[in-house]
Parts: sequence; C-alpha cells; structure tokens
Amino acid sequence: MKIQYLGHASLLIEAAGERLVVDPFITGNPMANGKIDVNAIKADYILVTHAHQDHILDVERIAANNPGIMLVSNFEIVNYFGQRGIQGHPMNHGGSWHFDFGRLTYVNAIHTSSFPDGSYGGQPGGFVIESEGKALYIAGDTALTYDMKIVPMIARLDAAILPVGDNFTMGPEGAAMAADFLGLDRIVGYHFDTFDLIKIDHGRAYDAFAKQGKELILPEIGDIFEL
Ligand code: NI
Ligand code: MN
Repeated sequence: MKIQYLGHASLLIEAAGERLVVDPFITGNPMANGKIDVNAIKADYILVTHAHQDHILDVERIAANNPGIMLVSNFEIVNYFGQRGIQGHPMNHGGSWHFDFGRLTYVNAIHTSSFPDGSYGGQPGGFVIESEGKALYIAGDTALTYDMKIVPMIARLDAAILPVGDNFTMGPEGAAMAADFLGLDRIVGYHFDTFDLIKIDHGRAYDAFAKQGKELILPEIGDIFEL
C-alpha cells in the first residue's frame, strides 16, 4: 500500500492497483495551494469519513473528473451524493465489505457529521483497510475513544493515521494514548495546522508521544508512505 498525504485529512492511497482518495479537501486548503492539483487526481474510489465541509469539499469535482468512480461512506452520505449523480457503496458501523482493493471496515468515531447545508450526514466513522497483506487504520475526526481497543482485533495494524489538531478532535496527548490502544509505536498525525483552531505546537506534540515511548510523524503535504 502507498499512502500520500494531500493535506488536512485528505489522502491518496494505492492498494492492489486501485487508487482511493480519502476525505478530499484540496481547493479549500490554502496550504495545499501549488502543491496538490485537484484536477490531476486520478482515482477509482472516494472514501468519506463524515459529512463536514473539510472532508467532502472536492468530492463532486473529483467524481466529475473520474467517470465511474465509486463513493464509499456511510448510508446517508452515499445517499446525498447519489442524488447528485455519484454512484456509491453505503456502509455503516462495524460492517466490512470486500472491494477489489481489499477489505474495508467502517468503524466508530466520536464526532458529528452534518453537511454544510445542514442536512443529516449520518454518524461519523473511520476506516480499516486491509490490502496486500497489510492493515491501515484511518481514524477520521474523532475523540480518543475506548472503541479504538477493538480496532486491532479487526486486523493487526501496520499503521494508523490519527487526528492530532485538538479542539475539534483529540490532540497529541489523546492520540498518544490511542497509539497505545491500537498497539502501535508510531503514528502518522493529520487534521492539524490547516485552520487557526487546529494549529498545534509541533514540539509539544512530539513530546506528548515521547512521554508514552511513542513516535509521532507530522507529514508535509505531498509526503508518501509505503506499507
Ligand atoms: Ni469534522
Ligand atoms: Mn474535520
């Protein structure tokens, strides 16, 4: 699996020859300006964790550029974009499905999930992707939750991407505890620094992990990780 950080909570994943874009928010992110070209994104799937603007802004644009793309999200989000002509695969918490890239499980998150127009976006979630013999957990926007202890029972994890920006989600201290729940020594952080309310002190964040004997990676936009 290859994972590229597109900024904020956006990821581009290559798994078993398929391309998955997660929570696309490029055109609204000034930090991605000049680094990521949303119109150059080629994808087979769009995965959406919840309906907030900073996770769905470029769904329709990417779908228009990639005919035949499949949206995978909760039932309500798939319904919403289905009415806008985008085909989708609806899921809900605890459910798994075998796609051509591998097995996907939609897991719990503690957060909210309304669309920018106020309509109901279902309950927020995260994803566990099992592909090419590896397992990746993408937490979505969430608090630290005891449910994270279940995630490594779904699949022994090789990597996890967790929000660390604080204020709207857990911060670095919570994410370091989450690393412990997940049985991982190293975590990739996301959902930080994009807006004033989620700007974090990187030194403090690294220290929070070091205190737990863990390591935090704060990626630069465009960074690529191989699993
Ligand atoms: Ni959110
Ligand atoms: Mn968010």
